[in-house]
Amino acid sequence: MTVAVTGATGALGAAVARDLADRGVEQRLVVRDPSRAPRLPGATTAVATYEDTDAMARALDGVQTLFLVSGHEDPDRISVHRSAVEGARRAGVERVVYTSFMGAAPGATFPYARDHATTELAIREAGLSLTAMRSALYADMAPLFVGVDGVIRAPAGDGRVAWVARRDVARLAAVLLTGEGHRDQVYDVSGPVAIDLHETARLLADATGRAISYHPETLEEARASRAGHPDWLVEGWIGSYLALHTGEGSVTSHTIEHLTGTPPLDLAGFLAAEPSSWAHLSR
Ligand SMILES: NC(=O)c1ccc[n+]([C@@H]2O[C@H](COP(=O)([O-])OP(=O)(O)OC[C@H]3O[C@@H](n4cnc5c(N)ncnc54)[C@H](OP(=O)(O)O)[C@@H]3O)[C@@H](O)[C@H]2O)c1
Repeated sequence: MTVAVTGATGALGAAVARDLADRGVEQRLVVRDPSRAPRLPGATTAVATYEDTDAMARALDGVQTLFLVSGHEDPDRISVHRSAVEGARRAGVERVVYTSFMGAAPGATFPYARDHATTELAIREAGLSLTAMRSALYADMAPLFVGVDGVIRAPAGDGRVAWVARRDVARLAAVLLTGEGHRDQVYDVSGPVAIDLHETARLLADATGRAISYHPETLEEARASRAGHPDWLVEGWIGSYLALHTGEGSVTSHTIEHLTGTPPLDLAGFLAAEPSSWAHLSR
């Protein structure tokens, strides 16, 4: 079985590639800039952007199972993904493990979750087997939500999120790419417990030793505090919090422990394991 990994110059793809290499899996890393591709035993590198369907088809020639990392947020993201999927179809890829998002659905509150639903459908309509990883918000992102004044401002109300560490998502991805029984499966992927943003702020304060709090914004406040950025980006940011308010992004699943045999970290565990994620807050 030949496995290919896209996004290997990014955080998640690199972690998946490392995990596969540790398991002795041979893999092809599909990247835009080969000079930034990780050097790993058993890994070769091919160059393609998602937008270049022909290059994707060439890069994926002979590949059976593809780890497709969703592209950077962009108003045109769906057509970028469609191009990558078409390249995979032409190359004869059988199965795509795709980094989707919790609550992916055509009517989702979070705009990017709608894009992920469209991409999931595009993979299936191309005749490829889909393994969807619908991830909760990454724990790695939580310290980045804190403003310079130590306040998390977001229109999430008392909504909850089961923060999931990228390292746990990567462990799961390696199992989904190499194990049996994951064809045509949709998995919710989360940490072990859903907490609200007050509790999130408290855990960040404990880890960093500085005062951190959560201010639940109204929609008007949320738009005003993000003014000056493009509308699609502002609606994306706001939508990710509103999906916690509605509960769409708040699901707690047992997928990681069930399929990998090891429970995922909770937010406190992640902050203890990766102090570099919040080092900027303690300066
Ligand atoms: N659940 C969450 O909280 C959460 C948070 C952040 C992101 N995400 C999603 O998860 C994905 C992976 O996260 P990450 O942290 O690993 O992101 P990341 O570090 O930004 O990595 C994204 C990777 O995708 C590649 N890529 C993006 N657009 C591409 C294109 N058009 N053609 C080819 N390659 C392309 C990038 O290549 P370059 O290095 O060449 O740019 C990079 O290797 C993200 O893309 C995003 O959709 C989820």
